[in-house]
Amino acid sequence: MSTSFTLNGAAIILAAAPGDLLIDTLRSGCGLTGTRYGCGEEQCGACLVLVDGAPVHACGRETVTLDGRVVTTAEAVPGHIRDAFLAEQAGQCGYCLSGMLVAATALLARNPAPDRAAIVAVLDGNLCRCGSHPRIIAAILRAARGAA
Ligand code: FES
Ligand code: FES
Repeated sequence: MSTSFTLNGAAIILAAAPGDLLIDTLRSGCGLTGTRYGCGEEQCGACLVLVDGAPVHACGRETVTLDGRVVTTAEAVPGHIRDAFLAEQAGQCGYCLSGMLVAATALLARNPAPDRAAIVAVLDGNLCRCGSHPRIIAAILRAARGAA
């Protein structure tokens, strides 16, 4: 069974069976290892990707459901957002950062000037075991200001 969708701006067609998870398709099938596997239970946010602009847990989404959709992964996060995370040194081990970047991308697309409360609310589902949330929030505020 084949599934076709747009992945980071490029059209792709790949073989997928019911039960195949998007996170495995991305990491093993497409070589996009930026999408991280954390809990596997749609609880930690490490595996977030955008599907038609909305955050989705790749660990819980079957690849066959993506036919005709637009998928964006951490590899395609806008440069100014990545730059803001770097400028704020927003991370320690970095494991959570792909999901954080994807969550930030979705937030800034619908709210280009979020306040701290709006950012905290969006990141509620993104766990960071290193306690880097304050710097991650600062990075998103920086990206919203347009400062790299
Ligand atoms: S790995 Fe998907 S939410 Fe944790
Ligand atoms: S920087 Fe280590 S989990 Fe967030």
